[in-house]
Amino acid sequence: MRRKLLLGNWKMNKTIAEAKEFALASKELADIANQHHIDLGVAPTYLGLEAVRTNASKSMIVAAQNVHYNPNGAFTGEISIPMLKEIGIDWVIIGHSERRAYDNETNQKCNQKIVALIKEDMVPVYCVGETLQQFEAGETKKVVEEQIRVGLSNLNAADVEHLVVAYEPVWSIGTGKNASQEIAQDVCGFIRGVLKDMFGDVAAEIRILYGGSVKPENIKSYLSCPDVDGALVGGASLKIDSYRQLLNNIL
Ligand code: 13P
Repeated sequence: MRRKLLLGNWKMNKTIAEAKEFALASKELADIANQHHIDLGVAPTYLGLEAVRTNASKSMIVAAQNVHYNPNGAFTGEISIPMLKEIGIDWVIIGHSERRAYDNETNQKCNQKIVALIKEDMVPVYCVGETLQQFEAGETKKVVEEQIRVGLSNLNAADVEHLVVAYEPVWSIGTGKNASQEIAQDVCGFIRGVLKDMFGDVAAEIRILYGGSVKPENIKSYLSCPDVDGALVGGASLKIDSYRQLLNNIL
């Protein structure tokens, strides 16, 4: 049985003080989510990670938004896996489309990070999704399949058991143009098929999220799709009231 997962991606938002305020206010939500067998989490900036980890409920998932694949070295501006582990962080978003677009994050680079994370028993949330141009050219499945096959190469079935995949069509992120329920199911079902082809039966255990303009009003329709196990939410996860509504609407 795949547990539902609601993960907020805060992107470059919230100071440490704001992150702490949210974490304290989220305590009761994590308990409610737990009672309903839902996993709840947020991905603050690097600076906000410790404040959320120490002030939120223990059951709250706290994810970093990126990591370097080397444990240390001359990589100015980067953060490593041991540094995250030291502050109790074991989930990391990899390959978000904003990083692919602005920071040259390729499928190969994502793969290096995912392999490094899994070796350290960490949970990658691997983001895939097509641009508007690719969507309009009917290339969604071709693009997503390549992202999955390259991003998850050099791994075996046991490695990917705890992996999370997030399908986020780039044209739906921050635009208010959310994908239809049909598109979300079609692509998430397709992704599960590729995972099955690569890794076999464990594909049925891997959680696949939809992301892109998810709001309290539409979250339920996505989670009613058989292959959508949760949501990766940007803007609507920033305010505690909206985050609470997202959870309430999938209980
Ligand atoms: P929005 O929910 O703001 O569209 O962002 C989605 C996203 O990129 C989550 O990672």
